[in-house]
Amino acid sequence: MKGVAFNFFVTGAVFVTLGMLWGISMEISGDHTYAGAHAHLNLVGWVTMGLFGLYYSMTPAAAEGGMAKIHYLVSTLGVLVFVPGIVLAIARTTEALAAIGSLIVLASMLIFLWTVFRHGLGRPA
Ligand code: HEM
Ligand code: HEM
Repeated sequence: MKGVAFNFFVTGAVFVTLGMLWGISMEISGDHTYAGAHAHLNLVGWVTMGLFGLYYSMTPAAAEGGMAKIHYLVSTLGVLVFVPGIVLAIARTTEALAAIGSLIVLASMLIFLWTVFRHGLGRPA
């Protein structure tokens, strides 16, 4: 177990690797139908989760608590539900999964807001 900052970075890097492969396959096929899902896999799965990882590596007190583990699980679950949800919404199958996913993504940001207010930023002086 290497800590929550590591988990955020590794998971985010896996998401963006998949996102890049998806982007390349869009380029090759010329079919950009699911660009919005690709975009949010990269932006929520890599940019946002990477920023969370950066925060936890700068703020060890926040990384130690059980809330950080919950934050990691909620963030990861959010991407895993939201991105397939966008695919289904674009395909006009259902919008339900995207709606549920967006609320999980929102929940992860609310946990982050709470964490930043509780622990501040950086190591205590
Ligand atoms: C190998 C890397 C990547 C490739 C080949 C790629 C390819 C693409 C393609 C083909 C589109 C559709 C463009 C369109 O229809 O207008 C797209 C859209 C998009 N990509 Fe990527 N992408 C890559 C990486 C990334 C990364 C790392 C991010 C974000 C951190 C990103 C964010 C976006 C966004 C936001 C859009 C939507 C843009 C719009 O709606 O006009 N992409 N990408
Ligand atoms: C609960 C979370 C989120 C929801 C529900 C959401 C929803 C949406 C929707 C409905 C669109 C318009 C899509 C379209 O017109 O085809 C969009 C576009 C976009 N969003 Fe998000 N978003 C979320 C999170 C984020 C985050 C965290 C970022 C950046 C870090 C982001 C960046 C973008 C960008 C760049 C676009 C324009 C590219 C595109 O059309 O795909 N979004 N988002």
